[in-house]
Amino acid sequence: MPLSRRDLLRAIASGVVTACAPSPDSDTPNTDTDATKPDVALSKAPWVSLIGATSARLRFETLADVEVAVYVTTMSGTDRRMPTRASAQLTYENPVLIGDADPDLPGLHVLHELVLEDLTPGEVYAWSVPTVEQTFTGTFRAAPGVDKPVRIGWIADTMFPQTDATVAVLATQAPDLFLHGGDMQYADNPADTWQGFFHSLVPLTSIAPFHTALGNHEIEKEGELDQMFDRLFLGQGEASLERAHAIRVGCALILMLDSETYGLADDTQEQYDWIDAQLAAAEADDTVKAVILGWHRPLFTFSRYYDATALVQSVVLPKLAPYRKVRLGLAGHAHGYEHFRWADIDWVVDGTAGALLYDTDESIYRATQEAPDLIAARLFVEREFGCTTVDVAPDGALTVRRLRADSGEEVYRFEIPALT
Ligand SMILES: [Fe+2]
Ligand SMILES: [Fe+2]
Repeated sequence: MPLSRRDLLRAIASGVVTACAPSPDSDTPNTDTDATKPDVALSKAPWVSLIGATSARLRFETLADVEVAVYVTTMSGTDRRMPTRASAQLTYENPVLIGDADPDLPGLHVLHELVLEDLTPGEVYAWSVPTVEQTFTGTFRAAPGVDKPVRIGWIADTMFPQTDATVAVLATQAPDLFLHGGDMQYADNPADTWQGFFHSLVPLTSIAPFHTALGNHEIEKEGELDQMFDRLFLGQGEASLERAHAIRVGCALILMLDSETYGLADDTQEQYDWIDAQLAAAEADDTVKAVILGWHRPLFTFSRYYDATALVQSVVLPKLAPYRKVRLGLAGHAHGYEHFRWADIDWVVDGTAGALLYDTDESIYRATQEAPDLIAARLFVEREFGCTTVDVAPDGALTVRRLRADSGEEVYRFEIPALT
């Protein structure tokens, strides 16, 4: 099998092969020697998020304030870069009662950040973070331009031990970026920690940018929201309002929204002004062909969370009605897979990346009584672990696929045609 550009760049970044041409800044080595590698463990493995059409941000964390270099590789060479560091004394802690994940400990946490600018849209870049203990390497694709196809991955509700299989299956699909719909780890799972979550994600964070929405399980313990979620993730995307953010990839605009601290049932929340502004700009922009929404709590479900949906529908749907480019809504929180088509928008609930699965029909009798039209609007349902991919064509057509975690099998797909 021929070596892909990603494979080649990864090999260069890891020092297995050397770039064909020297870096313009060729005084810098293309890897640290054993004598210069920092002797520090990474408590959060590196991940990349997109922060603009030509910029991205790589972050990782250590529990000591030590300089750790990052090597960034293109086909023209490798540059040694030094991230900025932000130290925080955390009070948040979460022990591990079973399993071998690292516990979340209080004390010093140092977030290392490298902003990469002037990237070429759609180009693949490689990075390497060598330490004495381990060298992390990865690749990512800068946000593809408007005329390029894009593959988006979706996972939500990750929990030990099922998450590893789901992550592995999504990684085989080589997404250009992946979205997490919230509930990254659960305090009531004795094997889950934030450190363990980041470790589980490495097969994906080493190949694609990672963007996330806030789940209710990121607000479970004292200090968790600000010391973990906010410290690690605020400022994702090209535009943001606190925990909500927007990303442009290809001809799609993705809005990752906050259903937890803002609450989508309250139409006076500031987030709705921000959503309005984003959607109005997208409608006026001919290069945006489709808008994809992602947030944690589903707008439609017949699971145990059915009760909350009617009120949120009554607020959200009128807000979206003026915007015909909104084609797809993704959610988690309900631990099952359900696909609804309602109000000319496809709604996928996929909270099946690892957390204990729910009865996807728990409330179907009540739905039959209270909202009979919705029964026919649910087009597919299954109670299995898995993930979702969304392929965005340059004309705005979307292909949505459902993949099983146990086999990698594609069990369902549907198409959303381009707007005419
Ligand atoms: Fe969950
Ligand atoms: Fe949840």
